[in-house]
Amino acid sequence: EETKSWKKLINIAVSGAAGMISNHLLFKLASGEVFGPDQPIALKLLGSERSLQALEGVAMELEDSLFPLLREVSIGIDPYEVFQDAEWALLIGAKPRGPGMERADLLDINGQIFAEQGRALNAVASRNVKVIVVGNPCNTNALICMKNAPNIPAKNFHALTRLDENRAKCQLALKAGVFYDKVSNVTIWGNHSTTQVPDFLNAKIDGMPVIDVIKDRKWLEEEFTEKVQKRGGVLIQKWGRSSAASTAVSIVDAIRALITPTPKGDWFSTGVYTDGNPYGIAEGIVFSMPCRSNGDGDYVLVKDTEAELLAEKRCVAHLTGEGIAVCDLPGDTMLPGE
Ligand code: LMR
Repeated sequence: EETKSWKKLINIAVSGAAGMISNHLLFKLASGEVFGPDQPIALKLLGSERSLQALEGVAMELEDSLFPLLREVSIGIDPYEVFQDAEWALLIGAKPRGPGMERADLLDINGQIFAEQGRALNAVASRNVKVIVVGNPCNTNALICMKNAPNIPAKNFHALTRLDENRAKCQLALKAGVFYDKVSNVTIWGNHSTTQVPDFLNAKIDGMPVIDVIKDRKWLEEEFTEKVQKRGGVLIQKWGRSSAASTAVSIVDAIRALITPTPKGDWFSTGVYTDGNPYGIAEGIVFSMPCRSNGDGDYVLVKDTEAELLAEKRCVAHLTGEGIAVCDLPGDTMLPGE
């Protein structure tokens, strides 16, 4: 008999489950390295008609691995079945871009998929399902999915920009000649596309501002930024297909970021709905921003430090000789609905 006390089984749905990214991801999920060594899981794998045979193969390999935490593997091609009671939905399945394409070229083809999957989640998933959209263009696909799932909180939908964050951290570490774990507070702003802004101004190395450690401002503004923006495309040129292993790793990082408390003073990037954001970013889109989590699966947006300092300054105007104090410190900076 089991001496260990297990947590309650959780249902994890993965689309594109017969694809390359999933082939890395599923075995990490099953091994316990994502949700923890006391967390049994059920994997619900969504494929397409075309990939059904391959999906059967994936399920066979998962079963043959005898993972103690993997209690169920089911496969299917109908999202209304596969997403039943899902507590996590990792939406990877979509047509990937090939050499010479931009991610936005996939808008039409992939948008339909995410509309349907949004409706399916709305109908059958757990009311608090956390959704991570990986298929490109992931920001807009996440928006489509969210809009088709009105009964699930908008804040539960994420577009994966953790891969960009990891890429940025790697480049900063290499340039500074330090190990990756010394780099923190890296924000990816905006779209998972070549217009994204990897923020080196607020990033830190060993707790110090990156700009005080890497003095080569031209490198930061030009080479670094472009390298991160174009990394996915360069990889496609080299491989002839898009990144898979590093994407799977970044999905693991993105999940862990939501289920473990964010280290003090740090944050992570994820693409989330902008309604109520404190940065002045247009509402109604999915935009990557800095977030923190207390580990319960939710997040709060990191406060805008500039706005906060200006508000504090207005509050103490009588002490700085700038007239009468006006206190308008904003309350919390959570998204509505929290
Ligand atoms: C990536 O960034 O590697 C993926 O989004 C695939 C792509 O199209 O670049």
